Amino acid sequence: MSTRPPKSRVSLTVLAFFHTIRSTVRVLSVNIDHVATLRQARQETFPDPVQAATFVQLGGADGITVHLRLDRRHINERDVELLKRTVQTELTVEMAAVEETVKFATRVKPAQVTLVPELTTEVTTTSGLDVMRNAAELKPFVRRLKRAGIRVSVFVDPEKAQVEAAAELGAQVVELNTDRYSRDVTHRQDILAQLAETAESARALGLVVHAGHGLDYWNVVPVVEMDIAQGFSIGFSIVARALLIGLTEAVAEMKQILEVHS
Ligand code: PXP
Repeated sequence: MSTRPPKSRVSLTVLAFFHTIRSTVRVLSVNIDHVATLRQARQETFPDPVQAATFVQLGGADGITVHLRLDRRHINERDVELLKRTVQTELTVEMAAVEETVKFATRVKPAQVTLVPELTTEVTTTSGLDVMRNAAELKPFVRRLKRAGIRVSVFVDPEKAQVEAAAELGAQVVELNTDRYSRDVTHRQDILAQLAETAESARALGLVVHAGHGLDYWNVVPVVEMDIAQGFSIGFSIVARALLIGLTEAVAEMKQILEVHS
């Protein structure tokens, strides 16, 4: 597969024109957990996700997302607190609905909290929250977050019953899980149709629809073209690409230091 993102055959000017006349504005919140993962791999103070957030916003991101996991394997409280004070766009914190994290969120007050299921054994979040089954447990947490002025989103699999349960719960946003869409290439069209149908049901219930997990520079295109979501939460593909396209410059800087000081 080519390492270049897909090129459009139409010029940027034409794209910009269509962009201005389209009614739906897509927002991108970039998940920067992976920067913290690199920091933690060496138990270092860098690369700092707080600094990364500045570069991400310079690139045009509409928001910054971080996942405060219960095991603090990447993002920690210090990161969230500093991001809250420095992010110029919108801060979203993904978290499990438990007392410890909800208490922290109501104190720090990010713009949005996205409730996700969390397993200690998982490499990353893969399944959506079972809102139907856990509604009674989730309700008081949602109420507390909203009372603190925080917008509440729930990460759910693309199923009508789950978005209905999310609306019933009082969530304002549903983030549709695109993990299966991103992996199961054979059934991609069916999953896309399921995402579109679920998004429609969610919008009819007054929910804002976001999409995320496993989206990259290629597979995001049909999701955008089918108008499935207004907001996108994308992390790994962006951070991975940044690493590759930034390497040449990083090496050249070190070479220059070696030459200048020889
Ligand atoms: N949305 C949710 C709820 C997630 O847990 C994650 C991963 O942290 C993402 C979106 C971003 O996924 P990716 O890193 O695969 O783009």
